[in-house]
Amino acid sequence: MIARTDRSTDAHPNPEVPIRHMDFSGDRGNLPRYFYDNDPFASAFFMAFSAVIPHGERFFIDSVRNYRDRVRDPELQQRVAGFIGQEAMHGQEHDISNAIYEAMGFPMKRLDRLSRRGLKLARRWLPLRIQLAMTVALEHHTAIVSEYTFRHPEMQARFAPEALRFTLWHMMEETEHKAVAFDVFRSTGGSYLVRAGTMIPMTAILLGTLLAFQLRILAADGTLWQLRRHLRGVGHIYGPRGLWAGLIPAFLDYFKPGFHPSQHDTDTLLRDMQARLFGEHGELRTQLKKTILPRARLAAAA
Ligand SMILES: [Fe+2]
Ligand SMILES: [Fe+2]
Repeated sequence: MIARTDRSTDAHPNPEVPIRHMDFSGDRGNLPRYFYDNDPFASAFFMAFSAVIPHGERFFIDSVRNYRDRVRDPELQQRVAGFIGQEAMHGQEHDISNAIYEAMGFPMKRLDRLSRRGLKLARRWLPLRIQLAMTVALEHHTAIVSEYTFRHPEMQARFAPEALRFTLWHMMEETEHKAVAFDVFRSTGGSYLVRAGTMIPMTAILLGTLLAFQLRILAADGTLWQLRRHLRGVGHIYGPRGLWAGLIPAFLDYFKPGFHPSQHDTDTLLRDMQARLFGEHGELRTQLKKTILPRARLAAAA
């Protein structure tokens, strides 16, 4: 059977993807050990996420770069430049966060090495199209986790303020570029079958890795067997009203043949978050050092 090109449909205009250079050093000195809800289990979950991000982001960048030359649309070329710049910043900033967790006694270097090895295998053995489909799948996960967090202020309130600002910055940019890898995949002939077929093993690998890393972090923390203490955190992440369960409908949308990330309307959420973080009295105004607009840069290079 010949797989047909993904004929998904866009619902909204694409937001700009600016590259922001940040400096979070002022925030980092105050980061509490259990920065989510003063809870070891849930904090370890977000640390496990952070452990896979630096090499994950580099993998995303390379998988999109492999197809960059085949992108004909100049507007998408601009968004690709923004995507690469944003993900590079995320990798860099999470490297710094991970070094801080390591200094607190968490085994982040070891987990970072494991992530690198796993992704090295993917780079060596998997076709470039599958590598790009992996990125598209994981970008869907980051987009829906971000949207969920934006829509749940009670979840935001559980983060320590320093961790919240950092997390919202990353999630805001994930929302800005959520369709970029998807559009590269689609415009270069990616099929629905490959896109949807990659999502299933990718999700199993992601959930398995996060759980294994989380348990390893808790073991290093010495809190792994404090089971009663973990009940609340288990509920927040894995419970029937927790994070993963809340993501299921948005996750399943990915399997619709006509799906496009812009069909999840985040326009207002994104505008509100941009104003909250970078508006006139934005929470991250002083941490923002420089903004590069790929449109201006590409126009200058032309
Ligand atoms: Fe990112
Ligand atoms: Fe991303």
